[in-house]
Amino acid sequence: MPTTTEERIIRPARNIMGSLRLPGDKSISHRYALLGGFAEGTSRFSNFSTGADCASTLACMEALGAKVRTIENGLVEVTGVGGRVAPPSGPLDCGNSGSTMRMIAGLLAAQQGSFTLTGDASLSRRPMERIRQPLEAMGARLTLTEGHAPIHLDGAALNPIDFTTPVPSAQVKTCVLLAGVQTAGETTVHEAVRTRDHSELALRAFGARITRTLNSVSITGPQPLHAIEAFVPGDISSAAFFFCAAALFPGSGLVFDSLGVNPTRAALLDVLTVLGAHISVVQLEEKHAELVGMVQVAGAAGGLRSTTIDGALAAQLIDELPVLAAIGPYTSGGIRIRDAKELRVKESDRIALVAKNLRAMGAEVEEFEDGLDVPGGQTLHGAEIDSAGDHRIAMAFSVAALKAEGETLIRGAEAAAISFPEFFDLLDRVAER
Ligand code: S3P
Repeated sequence: MPTTTEERIIRPARNIMGSLRLPGDKSISHRYALLGGFAEGTSRFSNFSTGADCASTLACMEALGAKVRTIENGLVEVTGVGGRVAPPSGPLDCGNSGSTMRMIAGLLAAQQGSFTLTGDASLSRRPMERIRQPLEAMGARLTLTEGHAPIHLDGAALNPIDFTTPVPSAQVKTCVLLAGVQTAGETTVHEAVRTRDHSELALRAFGARITRTLNSVSITGPQPLHAIEAFVPGDISSAAFFFCAAALFPGSGLVFDSLGVNPTRAALLDVLTVLGAHISVVQLEEKHAELVGMVQVAGAAGGLRSTTIDGALAAQLIDELPVLAAIGPYTSGGIRIRDAKELRVKESDRIALVAKNLRAMGAEVEEFEDGLDVPGGQTLHGAEIDSAGDHRIAMAFSVAALKAEGETLIRGAEAAAISFPEFFDLLDRVAER
């Protein structure tokens, strides 16, 4: 495989100002693509994610018989297979996307046929035992490659299960629910920490009945799904890079229109408030039960303070931890992260890579098995950053670079397109130099 080596220079900024409307949420777009591709009828999604990950999900659903029509950037029409997928002509390529692989496995487990799921080098290192176990308990057969992809999956008529996720994971929860919606009887998923609930909301939007308690979800199948028309709220995990950038500058001001603020995704707003940034959410409305609002962020007049992120909060903020750690040196009291071992099995080992890149910028940082201690009150200098092909690392250090002395070179900057192809252009637009 050729290694792509796009480089980006990030110069320090004086301030961050502007208003942005971001492409649709990656997690919601995946779910709409899967459910739209599986449902009866033609769905239409506006503001669909522009990232490569969601394109992988659409391509897999196309390979399984769904029809996908991109009308314009962000406007996608998906005609579903009506509950029965077609045999694909080859392996289903999930690219870099763990969400695609883990969630589609649940959909396919209840289908007749054999399927092979493959991914790129990073995805082929990520743990898949966590989906093999529940899907085999339901009656499917999954052969992994030393615990990883490629996965060979034989679908079957499944039995319902009562399952507790071994690690907090919305992908695993979704995997079981997508099998459960096709399975006679009641399937229940319990989780110790309530993870993002987009699947529950999306399944309901597509017509399924689902019941929830604080930490469990039950679905009684089989239930048909019906096409919807939906707007995908702006991606709050993409906005996170801009929130953190704005938080670094006392006179900053950013406004985000139509941003997803689902409470299971919005913990960053609280954390940044604790750190001292000013955040307000106005014009709240619901779109297919997803909360959408206008979010205003302004930097802390007296600079950022300190915080600890651990326990349930670490699981809820898992995608935002790299950028929070990357701004840690600029706080007065530092950022301490624990209970975030899952970071080691994301698109890269994000604990090791954050520590390595912070050190490259001259920061002091201590690495733990399940987190990091990033002391505050530090001055960073520009450096060469190794993204290791991980989108969130490339973007997190572009934010750290805004307040460093001198220029920073981001290697593997193209990785940002996995979730947020517009990132560098928008950063240039709001960064005053
Ligand atoms: C996601 C769940 C999280 C998250 C990922 C997207 C989802 O992964 O890190 O970026 O859309 O369900 P895990 O389920 O592995 O925690």
